[in-house]
Amino acid sequence: RWSKFPPVSAEEAKRAAARAAAELVEDGMTVGLGTGSTVAHLLPALAERGLELRCVATSPATERQARELGLPVEPFEQLDRFDIAIDGADQIAPDGWLVKGGGGAHTREKIVAAAADRFVVIADESKLVERLGAPVPLELLAYGLRATLRALGSAQVREGAPPSPDGGVIADYRGPIPDDPAELAARLEADPGGAGHGLFPPALGSEVLI
Ligand code: A5P
Repeated sequence: RWSKFPPVSAEEAKRAAARAAAELVEDGMTVGLGTGSTVAHLLPALAERGLELRCVATSPATERQARELGLPVEPFEQLDRFDIAIDGADQIAPDGWLVKGGGGAHTREKIVAAAADRFVVIADESKLVERLGAPVPLELLAYGLRATLRALGSAQVREGAPPSPDGGVIADYRGPIPDDPAELAARLEADPGGAGHGLFPPALGSEVLI
């Protein structure tokens, strides 16, 4: 079970986790930059360090903020791996499973995490859960969308969510999550209309900084 932490505001906690993660980055590293309000604290902490880095961003929002801060961002074309990737999470279970994608960037985030030697998750205490629960974010192909939603069952397009930068439709699975989330992950991956889902397995090797 997760133990409790002394009370600090969520923003302070996010900032502290982000600053600790920024300290793990070394000169010359290739860095995958995640997405979200916790990563928004990471970017200035990283920029302050003044290191020579090669960075890839998982979303246009992260790319924009990183560039404004003077961090070099390149497309994910020339690099085939990262020394480190740092990202937030929506839910963190004690066995290392994560749910990500509250910001709709989970497909790119998972590609970057999978390509990283070290994947570090930064979060405040509110993200710790005893058990994963719905919603699980999805990215679906627009082609055949209604058939995909029908096949998945408990899935709905996320209202007001813009398409992903890769043209995917952002949706959420709202059904039950089995004791072993791998069963649901396998079911979601088996659907030909699915481009990605927000269940991140412990095999991605997440180190979690709370
Ligand atoms: C983006 O799509 C998500 O995976 C975020 O990494 C996740 O939602 C955490 O975001 P916050 O840091 O804003 O809570």
